[in-house]
Amino acid sequence: MAYDVRFISQADVESLGISMKEVMDGVETGWRMNGEGKTELPAKIGIHPRGNCYIHAMPCWIGGDTDMAGMKWVAGFPMNLEKRLPYNNGIFVLNDTETGVVKAIMDCNWMTTWRTGAAAGLGAKYFAAPDSAVVAVIGLGTIGKITLRAFKEVLPAMKYIKIYDPIAEQYGRFIDEMRELLPGVEFIKCGSVRDACADADVVTSCAPILDQPRRSVSADMLKENVCCITSDYDSTLCADTVSGGRSFVCDDRGQYLWTQEHGVYFQNGYPLAEGIYADMGEIIAGKKPPVLEGRRVCLFMGIASHDVMTAKLILEKAAEKDAGTMLKL
Ligand SMILES: NC(=O)c1ccc[n+]([C@@H]2O[C@H](COP(=O)([O-])OP(=O)(O)OC[C@H]3O[C@@H](n4cnc5c(N)ncnc54)[C@H](O)[C@@H]3O)[C@@H](O)[C@H]2O)c1
Repeated sequence: MAYDVRFISQADVESLGISMKEVMDGVETGWRMNGEGKTELPAKIGIHPRGNCYIHAMPCWIGGDTDMAGMKWVAGFPMNLEKRLPYNNGIFVLNDTETGVVKAIMDCNWMTTWRTGAAAGLGAKYFAAPDSAVVAVIGLGTIGKITLRAFKEVLPAMKYIKIYDPIAEQYGRFIDEMRELLPGVEFIKCGSVRDACADADVVTSCAPILDQPRRSVSADMLKENVCCITSDYDSTLCADTVSGGRSFVCDDRGQYLWTQEHGVYFQNGYPLAEGIYADMGEIIAGKKPPVLEGRRVCLFMGIASHDVMTAKLILEKAAEKDAGTMLKL
């Protein structure tokens, strides 16, 4: 028996005009529901067909009034930058929760980028000082840019953006794209990670995730009061930065610990279970207060509830505007 499925391409998603604020609101709601125990969120699993590459399966059901379920099948291949292909790409499948039938199949590149920026923005909303003026961005690719877009929503005093990337051309590309979005801020090109981190109130890292990380942000480079938000697993922040501060927060305690137990990431001095202050679900659900002094580290691997909440937003808008293509499965 055939049934209707809405197929939504990346171009369709881009045509919907979804704002960063809308994505942040959805991601925050999903996170709150994690903290309230209203989601089923197994740790993401993956396969690794090439060195430093992954293809992850990320299922999630969000219960309560949301009642949405789906799964992302997403690849991350760092060498794609040279091939002018996206680092992350793949599809998201949304299922009906009464019947299990597929309701929509959509590109997941836009979703992954925007919800990752949104998550970093929420890290800043809860853990950065509201008067943060100096922001350092380490890694000037897609996630670096979207993170700044989210910071704009929550860091009204942001005035100086210190940027670092090992590839010289990335500076110009980054500034050209960001200047229009942030007309009042000054971009400062830094020749080293240390230069970028000096005096920064917020440090965010978005470099490739590596099997053998060459971590570059050590605690001695940072101000005493600093908020570090990383989207690149353990590739950039040194263990002393992550473990020796005032608070360490991950996006989901279960996923972080499961991944650590499997032995590739978060080794060699990264926090164990007792070193986790809270996960963001607990913070947003009000079970633990945010911390605003000392060195606060938010390590966000990306969780499937972000994707389900973003897919919900995309599907609602697409249905409203009749965007995408109806297929028979
Ligand atoms: N946490 C999440 O939810 C999530 C989601 C999507 C992507 N990511 C991760 O974010 C990272 C960035 O993804 P992207 O799409 O922006 O990739 P990208 O290829 O667009 O950008 C990566 C940038 O990092 C730079 N870089 C390379 N080595 C570096 C180093 N040692 N120090 C600093 N910068 C370095 C590259 O030159 C490039 O500019 C990847 O690790 C990706 O897996 C995380």
